[in-house]
Amino acid sequence: MNESLFSFLTDEHRMIRDAARDFAQKEIAPIAAEFDESGDFPRETIQKMGEMGFMGIEVPEEYGGAGMDTLAYVLALEEIAKVDASHAVIMSVNNSLFNYGILKFGTEEQKQKYLRAVASGEAIGAYSLTEPMSGSDAGTMRSRAVREGDYYILNGRKSWVTSGPVADYVVVFMMTEPEKKHKGITAFIVDTNTPGFTRGKKEPKLGIRASATSELLFENVRVPVENRLGEEGQGFKIAMTVLDAGRIGIAAQALGIAEAAYEASRQYVTEREAFGKPIGAFQGTGFKIADMKTRIEAARLLIYQAALAKEQSKTTGKRFSLEAAMAKLFASETAMFVTHAAVQIHGGMGYSKELPVERYFRDAKITEIYEGTSEIQRLVISRLETGLR
Ligand code: CAA
Repeated sequence: MNESLFSFLTDEHRMIRDAARDFAQKEIAPIAAEFDESGDFPRETIQKMGEMGFMGIEVPEEYGGAGMDTLAYVLALEEIAKVDASHAVIMSVNNSLFNYGILKFGTEEQKQKYLRAVASGEAIGAYSLTEPMSGSDAGTMRSRAVREGDYYILNGRKSWVTSGPVADYVVVFMMTEPEKKHKGITAFIVDTNTPGFTRGKKEPKLGIRASATSELLFENVRVPVENRLGEEGQGFKIAMTVLDAGRIGIAAQALGIAEAAYEASRQYVTEREAFGKPIGAFQGTGFKIADMKTRIEAARLLIYQAALAKEQSKTTGKRFSLEAAMAKLFASETAMFVTHAAVQIHGGMGYSKELPVERYFRDAKITEIYEGTSEIQRLVISRLETGLR
């Protein structure tokens, strides 16, 4: 990136970016391959990231966060993702899917109790919308919450929950009035120590293997009314608003993965020789490098635009769904394009576990799937642009 052009980056932005880069290099790089292989959750480094302020970047200091803006968040996340996409998604879910929802829709008590713990890294947060039969069509969920006096009784099965196996608190979406469809969904903050709450088996995954993903099972889980997030029936809007923020995080994650694969490739094409010259001197490889670099920088601009739109929304209240969807769509497809090219450029070594290139390739794929597939991003963009559906 031509940094001299980005005059809107403040000293604070550069500081958190450099701190994240430094931390990722020193603390995460040495363990990333090992945790990818074992699939274990990297608890120690995640805790240290909390101590560094990375788990609540946009949360005001009064609630235990770092009190910075969305640009600071994407800059830091990109640096973590450059080294390990698993740490990056855990960070993204805590910051966007958990913190942002509570900050925007929570009561003062909820912020003091749950936000403080997750933003400071003492606790891990999760977000639970998807069900076995409700993924892209998120409004069709079957899980039910029924009010009984001062409690709601929650029943249902949720799936594909990032950090599900380890989360202390989960924001979960359930039907309170099924006949009202979208308008009958309500959000709750659930303490995972509540009786009736259990975690399903950890999903074995192609990539982001050190991040933990599972089903969550709710069997007559009694949740006090004060743990309802927002009003009854407001859940779908909360889910969508929060996902808009989440998609910016995933875009930054995808950018980091792409950059890592690109940097490895750029170096490799100058060192590796074939037919008497560096392989980068062959147009077939050189043009790949050109396309990789161009798409990465274009993705970065879309992500910064989305971060600025989200920042602006804090004062205007305006939705940033379009900017977030475009950033996520383009950055995730860029990550896939770049990592695919990186494996090809590295040849056999790209396929070998001796280098991290194959990990980048495996990690990139999920960015086109979670927090709204590429198809859903296209649907969001085209609906917003044309008004048609
Ligand atoms: N912000 C605020 N409100 C929104 C909104 C947004 N981004 N998107 C929709 N809404 C509102 C609409 O305005 C509408 O409100 P009214 O009824 O008042 O008019 C209401 O929500 C219903 O909207 P739609 O009619 O557009 O709803 P739809 O059923 O057609 O679905 C969708 C829209 C875009 C397809 C949506 O369902 C969607 O985003 N699906 C993908 C879900 C997703 O991303 N899942 C990932 C889960 S998280 C995960 O991946 C796991 C993890 O742990 C990381």
